[in-house]
Amino acid sequence: MKGKKSATRIREIDPERREDYQCTIDCIYRTEYSTSQGCRSSFRENSPSALGSLPTMEQFKNNVEHVRKMGCNILVFEPREGEVIAYCACMGSARGFFISEFIVKSPEQLKGYGRSFYGEIEEYARNQCYKRIILYPEGQGARYFWLKMGFRRDETDFWVKKI
Ligand SMILES: CC(C)(COP(=O)(O)OP(=O)(O)OC[C@H]1O[C@@H](n2cnc3c(N)ncnc32)[C@H](O)[C@@H]1OP(=O)(O)O)[C@@H](O)C(=O)NCCC(=O)NCCS
Repeated sequence: MKGKKSATRIREIDPERREDYQCTIDCIYRTEYSTSQGCRSSFRENSPSALGSLPTMEQFKNNVEHVRKMGCNILVFEPREGEVIAYCACMGSARGFFISEFIVKSPEQLKGYGRSFYGEIEEYARNQCYKRIILYPEGQGARYFWLKMGFRRDETDFWVKKI
């Protein structure tokens, strides 16, 4: 298999696609987090919809636009055509490539998708010449996962991996 590279399965979110809308709803609003505090979501915090109600597709488009204006990228993971199962909000910063949200939708967790998705994000960051990935894991389960991905906590409480 030398020289043969599998197709990239991550891409920028497309606010016109219903699968991307559905994945965002599933990840942000229907996935349980392992802490009572939960994973902070810039998408949800900036959502114009009332707390507790789901955004419409139109509101979703506006949210994506809003989050992008703040300099944030949203990447999704589509392991098979039309099946979008994970969501990541990230941005470049002076300290490195910052992952602010990383969510595999509940029914698809613990099947290796988080590892694959992260691997492609790492490559994406490396291709943009970033030397480090930084994040702040929320909850014990997430900490186990990020430890497995090679991250370690630094003196500022953020978790870092040199890439
Ligand atoms: C944390 C999360 C991203 C992991 O993704 P995933 O697809 O379930 O993880 P994978 O199946 O790829 O697991 C990769 C490794 O991490 C380990 N792992 C994943 N979640 C774990 C957990 N909750 N507890 C212990 N280990 C865990 C797996 O056992 C696996 O180890 P292995 O390769 O040695 O077998 C996913 O469970 C999730 O989205 N959770 C809710 C949101 C969240 O907490 N996001 C991160 C913080 S904002």
